[in-house]
Parts: sequence; structure tokens; C-alpha cells
Amino acid sequence: MKKLKSLNLIYFSPTRTTQKIIKAVAQGTGLENINEFNLTIPTVTSPLTEMDESHLAIFGSPVYAGRIPPEATSRLSQYKGNKTPAVIIVLYGNREYEDALLELKEIVSNQGFVPIAAGAFIGEHSYSTSEKPIAENRPDHSDLQKALGFGEKIMRKAENLATCEENSLPAIPGNFPYREPRDFSTISPTSIESECTLCLDCVNACPTLAINEQNPAKTDKSLCIVCCACVKVCPSGARVMDHPQIKTVADWLYTNYSVRKEPETFV
Ligand SMILES: Cc1cc2nc3c(=O)[nH]c(=O)nc-3n(C[C@H](O)[C@H](O)[C@H](O)COP(=O)(O)O)c2cc1C
Ligand code: SF4
Ligand code: SF4
Repeated sequence: MKKLKSLNLIYFSPTRTTQKIIKAVAQGTGLENINEFNLTIPTVTSPLTEMDESHLAIFGSPVYAGRIPPEATSRLSQYKGNKTPAVIIVLYGNREYEDALLELKEIVSNQGFVPIAAGAFIGEHSYSTSEKPIAENRPDHSDLQKALGFGEKIMRKAENLATCEENSLPAIPGNFPYREPRDFSTISPTSIESECTLCLDCVNACPTLAINEQNPAKTDKSLCIVCCACVKVCPSGARVMDHPQIKTVADWLYTNYSVRKEPETFV
């Protein structure tokens, strides 16, 4: 394989757990010329990039209902490769990642990238609360160490590959046809107006521009992807995910998925 000139990190990460893992993997590769394309906030546009075999791309997305969220798919698909080696990484909240890794493989392959390694890591669940923690504070030190080690392995593989072979990625879990996507279009977090200081941190963190800038208590439910970025970023606890349907899901996750899962890598 050609000597790698740069590493491009391309990811969607509303609550930043995917971002933490991607950065640790990048550090593990030891590559110095790193470009970051954080596609979470739609107003932050990045130049449409074409990459060739001399670049390595790391793609990252959270898992939503066992799939890649459609917002991530459309944003990640802006990038084109030309036999460009790629690493695919999904972050899930300690339940399951089901078809997400397989779907991410298809997304990047359709864009001209050649996946050479894959990883499924665990991050604090979007619906975790201090009362009902689910993978709280993950990725933690141990996860990040594994991400660093994964980066090192990727480089060893890249250095030993004669060419960027289509079939060099081991089999990864997942089934096709993929799971049916879930519809959350009638749900969004709410604001406790008496606690809100109008700091607009939630507005700036929202990946779909669903929160009204003039009045952050107003959220466009049709745009909201229930990612909880606004809830996690609110400095005064005014933004809450109090919808009964999500609370039921959070209780179910807390009861059934509290046993720690460990990252899996496929190199
Ligand atoms: C709508 C939605 C669906 C989710 N579905 C799953 C799932 O199927 N399995 C799982 O383990 N975690 C699931 N999660 C949790 C996220 O995958 C997890 O919190 C991830 O760390 C978020 O990544 P981010 O911090 O980069 O945004 C879901 C979260 C949301 C908001
Ligand atoms: S309003 Fe919805 S989409 Fe926007 S940050 Fe909050 S939960 Fe995510
Ligand atoms: S982040 Fe919290 S305090 Fe700031 S505007 Fe949003 S709801 Fe209000």
C-alpha cells in the first residue's frame, strides 16, 4: 500500500462519545497529519473532500436502534474515496449495535472507500441519567486504552498490506436486510423555563437545528432526532428528556443492559 500522507477523521457525534473514541484511535495510529471533519453541527461545513490511496479515513457514528442514524448517513456520504483505506467505528450505549457496523461498511464502500478495520465501542447511553445510569462516563480509561491499541493495530495492518484489498476486513456482525428504523418524530426534550438562563448552549449543540434561537423552550419535533445533546450540554439542568416513551426505554435499558460490555475490534 502507498505510504499514508494523512489521516482524515469523519464523524457524527451529538453527545461526543464517538468523537472521544475516534480521537483516541487516531492518536494510536501515530500519524501526524490529521484532518478532523466533525459533521455533527450542520452549520459547520467542511470542504467536500476526495481522497486517494495515500490517505487513511476513520468514519464514526453512534448506533440508533441498531442502525446508523439517517443524519449520519447523509453527512458521512459527502466524502468520496478512490480505493482509499478506511476504518469504520460505531459507538453504542451498552445494549447492542446489531446492523450498524455492517451498514457503515456499506455506506463507506459505496463512496469508494475500502474498509480495512472495524470497531464497536461503548459510550454513555444518550438516555443515561444519574438515577438510572447506563454505561455512565464511558468511554472510560480502559475504553480509551483499547482505542489506542486499535489505532496501533490498524497501522501495523496498513503497513503490511501490499494493496488495499477489498476483502481484507474480517467478517463483521450484522444482518441484511437491516432492522426497521424507529420513528421518534413525535418526541423531543423540553425546557423548564424557570430554570433556563437563555445561554443558548442547547441551540448551538443541536445537530438538526431543531431548537428555536429566540425561544429555546420551542423545539421542532419533526427535526428532533432525540439525541439528548441539548440535555447533556445544558449547564443549568433546564433541558430535560421527560417524555414517557423515552423514560420507559431508559428504565428497560437500566434494568436489562447494566452489565458492562467491552469494545470489539476487527482488523
Ligand atoms: C435514538 C437513539 C437510539 C439509540 N439506540 C441504541 C441502540 O440500539 N443500542 C445501543 O446500545 N445504544 C443506543 N443508543 C445510545 C447511543 O448509541 C450512545 O449513547 C452513543 O454513545 C451516542 O454517541 P455520541 O455520543 O457520539 O452521540 C441510542 C441513542 C439514541 C439517541
Ligand atoms: S432538540 Fe432533539 S435533535 Fe436537538 S439536541 Fe435536543 S434531542 Fe438532539
Ligand atoms: S442550554 Fe439550558 S439554560 Fe441554556 S438556553 Fe438551553 S435550556 Fe436554557
